[in-house]
Amino acid sequence: MAEVISGRDLSAALKADMKVQVKELFQKYGRAPHLAVIIIGDNPGSISYVKGKEKSCNEIGIKNTTFHLNARVSQKTVMNLIKSLNEDETVDGILVQLPLPKSYDEEAIINAIDPTKDVDGFHPSNIAKLWTKKPCMLPCTPKGIIEMLKSKNIEIKGKRVCVMGRSNIVGLPMMKLFIDEDATVTMVHSKTTRQWEFTRDADILIVAIGKPKVVNARYIKDGAVVIDVGVNRDPETGKLCGDVDFDDCEPYASYITKVPGGVGPMTICALMQNTIESFLTHVGDKMEDRK
Ligand code: GUN
Repeated sequence: MAEVISGRDLSAALKADMKVQVKELFQKYGRAPHLAVIIIGDNPGSISYVKGKEKSCNEIGIKNTTFHLNARVSQKTVMNLIKSLNEDETVDGILVQLPLPKSYDEEAIINAIDPTKDVDGFHPSNIAKLWTKKPCMLPCTPKGIIEMLKSKNIEIKGKRVCVMGRSNIVGLPMMKLFIDEDATVTMVHSKTTRQWEFTRDADILIVAIGKPKVVNARYIKDGAVVIDVGVNRDPETGKLCGDVDFDDCEPYASYITKVPGGVGPMTICALMQNTIESFLTHVGDKMEDRK
């Protein structure tokens, strides 16, 4: 029997602390942190993520503005919007919801965001800082996962971690954060043969492959910590499900997360933390001085 790590409960506690912090910041600086979110098109998953972000901002008192653009607007219009948000001193964080419709140059759009407002940590200068261990905005999902493990005092140092999935958003930065925590990290991906030979060696298994319920008991070591990043529709029930077959793995894991209510709320929580970090940088309270 595994203990379930609830991202929903942990994020609620962290958000309650942030609410107090934002109130104090408002009193000190005369304004609240401000997050601008750009969403293009009508991808239902993206719309639901953005609604979650708005809800959390409102709970905490973070000002938020959503720009929901029609998928027919030009690349130039998006670039001009980012330029105006970069120049707007009352905007602390800019997030462009991914994936973008195929007709847009995603890389150019991310590169246009002012790195000091890049609350996703996706800008090349923030990625370079991450990989050279400089203070920077950490990508939200990996940051939220480390916070989940620490909340349960799960030892990372010296442990074997396996990350499934090599995306820029989750897998790659996740690997780096675990290396920085002194873990030994392996990565498996869609071209890895006999994946279970690696995953079954892991004390901590992070699954971010975007395929419903692929990871079953055969993939995990007895007593492993299993973190499920996936958000999929179960092809049989139509319900939300993860990349991990929860019922199959739960009896063998020591800790496990659920979908929904696991990593998702922690990603949003980390985004809120990054927006506050960004605000502090903009009001002159330098990140370097706080580390
Ligand atoms: N789409 C899925 N996850 C994310 C994320 O963390 N940030 C952005 N911008 N888009 C996403």
